[in-house]
Amino acid sequence: MVDGTVAGPVTSTVAEHPATEPVPITSRTTLRDRLSGRQTLQVVSFQIPGAVFGRSHPVPGRSVAASVRAPGIRVEQYRSALRRHPAGVTIVTLESGSGPVGFTATSFTSLSLDPPLVSFNVTDTSSSIDAVRSAESLVIHLLGEHQQHLARRFARSAAERFSDESMWTRLETGEPVLHGTPVRLRVVVDRLIPLGDSTLVVGCVVHAHEDPADESRIPLLYYEGAYHRLVAAEE
Ligand SMILES: Cc1cc2nc3c(=O)[nH]c(=O)nc-3n(C[C@H](O)[C@H](O)[C@H](O)COP(=O)(O)O)c2cc1C
Repeated sequence: MVDGTVAGPVTSTVAEHPATEPVPITSRTTLRDRLSGRQTLQVVSFQIPGAVFGRSHPVPGRSVAASVRAPGIRVEQYRSALRRHPAGVTIVTLESGSGPVGFTATSFTSLSLDPPLVSFNVTDTSSSIDAVRSAESLVIHLLGEHQQHLARRFARSAAERFSDESMWTRLETGEPVLHGTPVRLRVVVDRLIPLGDSTLVVGCVVHAHEDPADESRIPLLYYEGAYHRLVAAEE
């Protein structure tokens, strides 16, 4: 999150990155490689024409932090405003090579229809960050209102998130999946973009699974620091 302090010296590195084509993650191993212990190398910056992300910023002479902090908004104001933005609740899961990893996330959003891209962010202090940075693929669960207990569980102690083995299984590709989820998306990670205190994960949806059960049709929302169920507005 933004810390509300005045930005320090600008450290734009635009000149170091003159490329005009996107530079995606350059080297990845397969899930099988990682499970067998081989190293994964990832580049966590990329460029598009006229814009440089990752270690740089599209506006020459300004860092991301400088432009965000310039208006002087305090972290309390930022938090207070965004608490009033309702968000669908998801759980992101992946296989780290040394066990299942997962966390509750409301930063999920759709980015592009063709190709079918989605994104979410993970804070750099999260215990899941190293696993996310190394992941080739992951699963995003779009939770139903009957899964509030899972949303709470996956935001608490990381050690206990997968301790109840009756709640989850694995796909053939290795990622953990949670039973009874209305919609789950299997996503191949396309790129990682460091932004502020978080890393934006952009992924391509390669499989969408919808549970036909009636009880799973009502999505779980998070709003004003509490879980809610979606209710249709009256006309
Ligand atoms: C409703 C809700 C939404 C959250 N959304 C995100 C998110 O989008 N990205 C993220 O990194 N953490 C998010 N978190 C926090 C994580 O679920 C988790 O608690 C945090 O990463 C700390 O995990 P750790 O103890 O494993 O480090 C959210 C937590 C809650 C309760």
